[in-house]
Amino acid sequence: MEQFIMKGGTPLHGEVVIGGAKNAALGIIAGALLTDEDVIIENLPDVRDINVMLEALKEIGAVVERIDRHTAKISAVGVTSVSIDDEYIRKIRASYYFIGALLGKHHMADVPLPGGCAIGSRPIDQHIKGFRALGAKVEIRNGCVQAAASEGLHSSHIYLDVVSVGATINIMLAAVLAEGRTIIENVAKEPHIVDVANFLNSMGANIKGAGTNEIRIRGVKELSGTEYSIIPDQIEAGTFMMAAAATGGNILIKNVIPKHLEAISSKLTEIGATVEEYDDAVRVIGDREKRLGATQIKTQPYPGFPTDMQPQMAITLGLSEGTSVITENIFENRFKYVDELMRMGANIKVEGNMAIITGVDHYSGASVVAPDLRAGAALVIAGLAAEGFTVVEDIKYIQRGYERFEEKLRALGGKIEIVETEKDIMKFKLKVS
Ligand code: EPZ
Repeated sequence: MEQFIMKGGTPLHGEVVIGGAKNAALGIIAGALLTDEDVIIENLPDVRDINVMLEALKEIGAVVERIDRHTAKISAVGVTSVSIDDEYIRKIRASYYFIGALLGKHHMADVPLPGGCAIGSRPIDQHIKGFRALGAKVEIRNGCVQAAASEGLHSSHIYLDVVSVGATINIMLAAVLAEGRTIIENVAKEPHIVDVANFLNSMGANIKGAGTNEIRIRGVKELSGTEYSIIPDQIEAGTFMMAAAATGGNILIKNVIPKHLEAISSKLTEIGATVEEYDDAVRVIGDREKRLGATQIKTQPYPGFPTDMQPQMAITLGLSEGTSVITENIFENRFKYVDELMRMGANIKVEGNMAIITGVDHYSGASVVAPDLRAGAALVIAGLAAEGFTVVEDIKYIQRGYERFEEKLRALGGKIEIVETEKDIMKFKLKVS
């Protein structure tokens, strides 16, 4: 089983280029099913979840051509089935976007219930509420979501009970070809929501209000092909910002939209890190002489502090001077990494959806297990900040969402490699000692 091994203690310095936003690309790939014309998607992150989604398109008859590592050409005119099911698609969360897209285009869909990171129960009741409001019959049978709208879909006025990224994107996918004017209220406003709306509008959809509390969609008869480039990944960028802060380094993070990072930048500034903003880059300098300070974090839907940055922030605050409190308001089980971090010497007490973090002077290397995607990345950062050697197991989670993570960290001076055997570990230890 592949693992990351790292030797900590080296502040990370240099430049890193951020890839395309995974959580925008997943909705956009499904959106390619909404037209019979060719769709070219650029700036795709080369990560496992994206590749699983592209493979699933091929299984139902779409033609998918990888023009290069970050560009795919999709032609869905040959789609012959609305039933997607394979062992890989069952493991990812974003498979549910195929329901909205197939329902929107073919008025039928049969897709497994989603998998994804175990950070909470993660129901899809709001997705189903939206599909039913648009006129679809939806049933859960044999672990699959079976949706059908024999008379086609019609417009509706939908009020989401929960601000949900997935439901917002999924209902947009289903509604763009539905006759009439659909209004979705209490929607998510993340940058990736806006990116999916912009992608659909580039195909001729009529979507207004993405990024606000209310999205208004006027159904169109058909959508055309497009060439579209995905926005930079807000969370990958934030992860490298935290890596600079936690290791006391100095990193220029390139190909970002600084506005998308405001919640992260303001918290890093508040605890004493230096954040310099440029047109399409941010520089973060973690102050090595003086330890960073404490703060309070409450995860919120965008533009609040992102839940996907919660573990990475905890790593940084675990090394700060003073006591910080993180309140996780989005998912009910997103502190599983705390036990692992305690093995590295952190002093954190979890009470319900709050983590009380008393900063320690340093982490010491240990063997830890990645419980999910973002916590796995956070544990790697902790290993690079720690004294000594750290091994992170179950790195498959990390590879689902971070492209060439260890390569990018090595280019910043991080002593990290992928290893499989005890022999590999010994070789690494000899090499870096
Ligand atoms: C998306 O998950 C992201 N995943 C998550 O990122 C991210 O943490 C999350 O949005 C919040 O930003 C993808 O985009 C593939 P939600 P999603 O629907 O859509 C509840 C990562 O690291 N809810 O916004 O599943 C839900 O339980 C991943 O890239 C319902 O109750 O999140 C949660 O408590 C991890 N009913 C809250 O809403 C529903 O029908 C927010 O979930 C849907 C959601």
